[in-house]
Amino acid sequence: MTQLSTTNTFTAEYAQMRDEADPLKRFRDEFLIPQHQGKPVAYFCGNSLGLQPKAAEDSVKQELRDWSELGVEGHTQARRPWVSYHELLTEALAEITGSLRSEVVAMNALTVNLHLLMASFYRPNKERFRILCEAKAFPSDQYALQSQAEWHGLMPAEVIREIHPREGQHHIELDDILQAIREEGSQLALVMIGGVNYYSGQVFDMETITREAHKVGAIAGFDLAHAIGNIHLKLHEWNVDFAAWCSYKYLNSGPGGTAGIFIHEKHASSPETFRLKGWWGHNKAERFKMGPDFEPIPTAESWQMSNAPVLSMAVQIASLELFRQAGMTNLLGKSKALTAYADQLLSEVMRQGPLAGAFEIITPKDRGCQLSLLFSRHGRAVFDYLTANGVIADWREPNVIRIAPVPLYNQFSDIYRLASLLAQFPG
Ligand SMILES: Cc1ncc(COP(=O)(O)O)c(C=O)c1O
Repeated sequence: MTQLSTTNTFTAEYAQMRDEADPLKRFRDEFLIPQHQGKPVAYFCGNSLGLQPKAAEDSVKQELRDWSELGVEGHTQARRPWVSYHELLTEALAEITGSLRSEVVAMNALTVNLHLLMASFYRPNKERFRILCEAKAFPSDQYALQSQAEWHGLMPAEVIREIHPREGQHHIELDDILQAIREEGSQLALVMIGGVNYYSGQVFDMETITREAHKVGAIAGFDLAHAIGNIHLKLHEWNVDFAAWCSYKYLNSGPGGTAGIFIHEKHASSPETFRLKGWWGHNKAERFKMGPDFEPIPTAESWQMSNAPVLSMAVQIASLELFRQAGMTNLLGKSKALTAYADQLLSEVMRQGPLAGAFEIITPKDRGCQLSLLFSRHGRAVFDYLTANGVIADWREPNVIRIAPVPLYNQFSDIYRLASLLAQFPG
């Protein structure tokens, strides 16, 4: 086996020293970390499914208990009344997304919400019908866009323009997005891009994209599945029209956890903005009078159709409390440090030793915590080797391993464990 001549930061002692100095280290103990051969795995899959906060179980049990003791009365008498349950998530979601409280609401699932938002914000006509999105958007987003075009009687190929990386690159240049917006001009109805691309980990400049989209009269909407809880967001200030996210990745709200939306107040407060209607979007004071005329709540809440999935939201309450305690700015500081350390050690592994030249990091420097490693050889074997040794990463066909050191529960020692395993890859 080739030995790596490593720097003095590529040591277990250095990683432990960084862990001990980490002001957020206590948060790791707030999570249940899966075990491998009696010790915690190094979990790098928070960009796929975040870990379970220990407090989630009691939070859910509280609702189960109230349900068992109160039955239907729980809607108003539960310790956290179910009739207004979604409101318990609003403040933290507004904080994490840089939004006003009136602009966010937790509801449904991500793809469902993208459709509901496009029902409001993609209303094509003969002149303005085109949609811009990034190439290699998450497949569900591609299907959603295609079917939106079809629903309006249009051909997806005539509606959707994908922006590709330049030859030999893996990320998309901002200039190419802006150029495409200008070229589409008055035909452009909607720009719909992921805030962070799920495959490459590239962060898009949402503020600039939104500004340019608005200049040609288009709407700017973002899928924040890989952005929420991972990067700095200022949706209100950036003047973003709408956004949607899921909560099971960086928000640690459990498989299929309740998703959420942002609608800028300029749209949300206006009764003129078209929204598909359901009783939970109706004026709260009048809701139970059961009248036939819909009166929208003048906030993002009016996009809710149904009453809240309380058990799922109970998990999210537990997780959001940890975000509140840790503070997003602190988390992002640690995220940068963890990812820089991962970048540094992986770059050493790439330069020398058994995996020299076998992979490259395709994530550009505009990134959150995710790094995507593109393998030219050994990719699947490396992934299986990591798994067999208690390092949980994520495999994307045909040859990418994604790793995401999450500041709430990952530590520098996890990164050392990953990199030192790679440095000893038996080939
Ligand atoms: C970027 C992105 N968009 C959409 C989805 C689909 O999410 P859901 O199944 O919650 O609708 C995912 C799921 O991982 C995703 O990563």
